[in-house]
Amino acid sequence: MKHTLTRSLLVSLVALTPLTLQAEPDMERGKALNRQCALCHGFHGQGVLGGKYPRLAGLPEYYLVGMMDKYKKGVLDYQAMTVVGGLRNLSDEDLQSLAAYLSDVDLGAVSPLDIPTPEGADLDNGEDLFQGDCKTCHGRKAEGMKRKESPPLAGQYTEYLARQIAMFKKKERIHANDEEDETFAEYEPQQIKDILAYISTLDDK
Ligand code: HEC
Ligand code: HEC
Repeated sequence: MKHTLTRSLLVSLVALTPLTLQAEPDMERGKALNRQCALCHGFHGQGVLGGKYPRLAGLPEYYLVGMMDKYKKGVLDYQAMTVVGGLRNLSDEDLQSLAAYLSDVDLGAVSPLDIPTPEGADLDNGEDLFQGDCKTCHGRKAEGMKRKESPPLAGQYTEYLARQIAMFKKKERIHANDEEDETFAEYEPQQIKDILAYISTLDDK
């Protein structure tokens, strides 16, 4: 009985395979495509100190694909990236391959980052606020959580994160995939500075 069950299960799995399994991401293709992104995000996807261009290296695939898709579809608007970077012409398979390649870059080995900690911040207050309000979705060490589809914040440039928070506040970008999100509504600028300064001490080098 057990045997036949396993067999029929196997047979149906084999029959389903071509439909249910996505094509394997093509790392070489991802590497080649990354040349278009490297113009701004750096050869290793390390971004630029000062945060004009965010780091992409080592970000999780689920998050990279989601963000690329948002830019491609114009949910987030940055023309220079979709045109110069060619994002608008990339297929879903290309996005998968790029994400797999970038996610796999070990920045610690090729171009270690050390995010500077901004001056004039209260790190203890930042820790309290982060561990109280952000940890449930971004993880205790700001490492990101797949289950919540959240990105790591540790190891990302402070100025870039601050810009995103400003966009969340103005609803130019949706935070936590929730139109009603009010995470940042009540925060004073100094509190946001404290949180970001604390996060900068967690960078994953
Ligand atoms: C002309 C410069 C430029 C090029 C080329 C470019 N980008 Fe970007 N990218 C940016 C900027 C600037 C931002 C941040 C926008 C902001 O501050 O809101 C960004 C943001 C991103 C983000 C969001 C990162 C995060 O942490 O949320 C991803 C993902 C991304 N780019 C992927 C790519 C990929 C993949 C390519 C190549 C196909 C590419 N970019 C090419 C300028 C560029
Ligand atoms: C309910 C879950 C949740 C909570 C709580 C939460 N976040 Fe987020 N956060 C997310 C998700 C999901 C995203 C990705 C959104 C997207 O796809 O655009 C995100 C994105 C971000 C980004 C953009 C990162 C990037 O690379 O572009 C920043 C910055 C951020 N969150 C900061 C915070 C801070 C600071 C707190 C605490 C004050 C916090 N978040 C609390 C779920 C959450």
